[in-house]
Amino acid sequence: MMLKIWIGSVLLMFGILSASVGGYVGINIGTDLSNLPAASDVVSIIKANQITHVRLFDADAHMLTALSDTGIEVMVGVTNEEVLGIGESAAVAAVWINNNVAAYLPSTNITAIAVGSEVLSSIPNAAPVLVPAMNNLHKALVASNLNYNIKVSAPQSMDIIPKPFPPSTATFNSTWNSTIFQMLQFLKSTNSYFMLNAYPYYGYINNGGLFPIDYALFRPMSSVKQIVDPNTLFHYDSMFDAMVDATYNSISAFNTSTIPVVVTESGWPWFGGANEPDATVDNAETFNNNLIRRVSNNSGPPSQPTIPINAYIYELFNEDKKSGPVSERNWGLFYPNGSSVYPLSLTTSNNSIGNSSVPFCIARQGAESSKLQSGLSWACGQGQANCTAIQSGNPCYLPDTLQNHASFAYNDYYQKMKIIGGTCDFDGTAMTTKTDPSYGSCIFTGSSNSSSFGFSPPSAFGPVSPLGKSSTLQVHVLWSLTLTVLITFLVVDVHIHTFCS
Ligand SMILES: *[C@@H]1O[C@H](CO)[C@@H](O)[C@H](O)[C@H]1NC(C)=O
Ligand SMILES: *[C@@H]1O[C@H](CO)[C@@H](O)[C@H](O)[C@H]1NC(C)=O
Ligand SMILES: *[C@@H]1O[C@H](CO)[C@@H](O)[C@H](O)[C@H]1NC(C)=O
Ligand SMILES: *[C@@H]1O[C@H](CO)[C@@H](O)[C@H](O)[C@H]1NC(C)=O
Ligand SMILES: *[C@@H]1O[C@H](CO)[C@@H](O)[C@H](O)[C@H]1NC(C)=O
Ligand SMILES: *[C@@H]1O[C@H](CO)[C@@H](O)[C@H](O)[C@H]1NC(C)=O
Ligand SMILES: *[C@@H]1O[C@H](CO)[C@@H](O)[C@H](O)[C@H]1NC(C)=O
Ligand SMILES: *[C@@H]1O[C@H](CO)[C@@H](O)[C@H](O)[C@H]1NC(C)=O
Ligand SMILES: *[C@@H]1O[C@H](CO)[C@@H](O)[C@H](O)[C@H]1NC(C)=O
Ligand SMILES: *[C@@H]1O[C@H](CO)[C@@H](O)[C@H](O)[C@H]1NC(C)=O
Repeated sequence: MMLKIWIGSVLLMFGILSASVGGYVGINIGTDLSNLPAASDVVSIIKANQITHVRLFDADAHMLTALSDTGIEVMVGVTNEEVLGIGESAAVAAVWINNNVAAYLPSTNITAIAVGSEVLSSIPNAAPVLVPAMNNLHKALVASNLNYNIKVSAPQSMDIIPKPFPPSTATFNSTWNSTIFQMLQFLKSTNSYFMLNAYPYYGYINNGGLFPIDYALFRPMSSVKQIVDPNTLFHYDSMFDAMVDATYNSISAFNTSTIPVVVTESGWPWFGGANEPDATVDNAETFNNNLIRRVSNNSGPPSQPTIPINAYIYELFNEDKKSGPVSERNWGLFYPNGSSVYPLSLTTSNNSIGNSSVPFCIARQGAESSKLQSGLSWACGQGQANCTAIQSGNPCYLPDTLQNHASFAYNDYYQKMKIIGGTCDFDGTAMTTKTDPSYGSCIFTGSSNSSSFGFSPPSAFGPVSPLGKSSTLQVHVLWSLTLTVLITFLVVDVHIHTFCS
């Protein structure tokens, strides 16, 4: 019964951006909650929402077992408590790999090991053993011949980059020069990636309103508030992109060739205390939907446009047992019963943005009926369209024609699958239309009256007023914008100083 509820719940599609598409969105699974569902139920929720990548903060045996044979890619975690032992002893590292990784392969697809959680900023005393721990784990993987499929890295907080804005001048806190140097050498030589926890929420609230909230939420900004890096003249549409670029720039100071940045945590809390007015359902919904959209657009940040930004949303459930401010316990996307806290939708960058009309897919008039029949069967079968509505007695059964039934099934398939490349073709018997084919009580998937998607009205990602070319006016605009931003960045620097000291 629970499973039905889950499947019936909002069809989140962020996970289905599988590796083949490029950028993927995964999810963090924190377990510090009083009514944590059984591991098998957690995995049902993940599967029902077609999430393809998860990160665990430990290597919980129940979760790793429940994740077996699901195809889901799993990042396991070495806890901060374990880092010291593993860093000091290759034997301890080998045992850790045997018990927590090798024991579950290949049925559980473990592809990464995150060593500690923000070690440099949260337990700085452990910094000297961090890279040795990474090395010991990697050597143990090599000994078991597992190193080709499993990457070792260590998630770090943005706090180790004291002045992330503007990104072009960002550098790591020099306290960590030697640790970072060793880490980057390690990541480079093992073909791994840099794990970054990037929270525009904190970047926004800790800077006293200097950045517009739209910038933190990936919303379009007015033309006088464009954020431009004065050195590179790169435009930053979002603080998220700026944080990732600040990291790329900090890495580049070490003269290693490019090491990809993967965002191991990002998100927005949906509830907070009286002094946390920005932790709202609306903001969380906006941020996470826009994050999904941003990642699925597959482009990198301005300085690395060809490296998609993979990201793991923080997090699956609220963790009510955590301490700290109220918001700390309210980052979850789902309740333990599997219902989502707010609708999440994934719209492609192709969906005429700022235009509410979602194209529908329907059967062509006069298409050959044998082809329509096989298209219909395929859509309802392998295609996994929900064909309940066209069964006898349900709202879309009448008119009982092949044309009508195929239209419903094609469209349901297309709305759910277009994001991963599902097409509206069906052997030439289908076509797209902007006209909502819904009629009476028969509501087609994706209709603005349909709830089956959790479609929120597209939060307009309107076109940013274009800059450029050669007219004097435009050049003037560019310069004044740059100036505005220079001022913004200057002020920000001062504030960050205050904040950090
Ligand atoms: C595990 O994930 C990797 C990376 O996506 C993929 O290449 C591999 O086929 C997966 N293995 C299994 C057993 O699913
Ligand atoms: C760099 O890190 C050290 C150690 O955590 C800290 O004391 C110092 O304030 C940091 N520097 C800046 C500029 O944030
Ligand atoms: C390391 O720290 C020094 C300051 O002590 C700094 O000047 C240097 O450029 C830093 N960065 C690298 C990549 O070495
Ligand atoms: C990186 O290269 C530049 C230019 O060659 C050099 O000035 C700088 O010292 C190098 N930095 C490090 C950390 O090697
Ligand atoms: C799931 O739990 C939430 C919060 O307790 C509740 O509001 C919601 O109605 C529940 N959903 C279902 C389908 O039981
Ligand atoms: C993808 O996102 C980047 C950064 O926000 C943006 O500059 C670019 O225009 C987007 N591309 C598409 C096709 O939406
Ligand atoms: C967007 O549309 C272009 C051309 O119409 C197509 O090549 C591309 O694959 C589409 N991207 C997505 C994510 O659907
Ligand atoms: C919005 O949709 C209409 C048709 O419904 C289309 O004519 C128009 O070009 C679209 N606008 C954009 C910006 O895609
Ligand atoms: C299929 O659609 C029906 C309504 O037509 C809905 O009640 C049911 O929950 C849907 N099933 C799934 C698995 O989405
Ligand atoms: C959607 O709902 C509104 C109000 O309930 C109704 O007026 C409209 O006709 C509906 N549209 C479709 C396509 O069913």
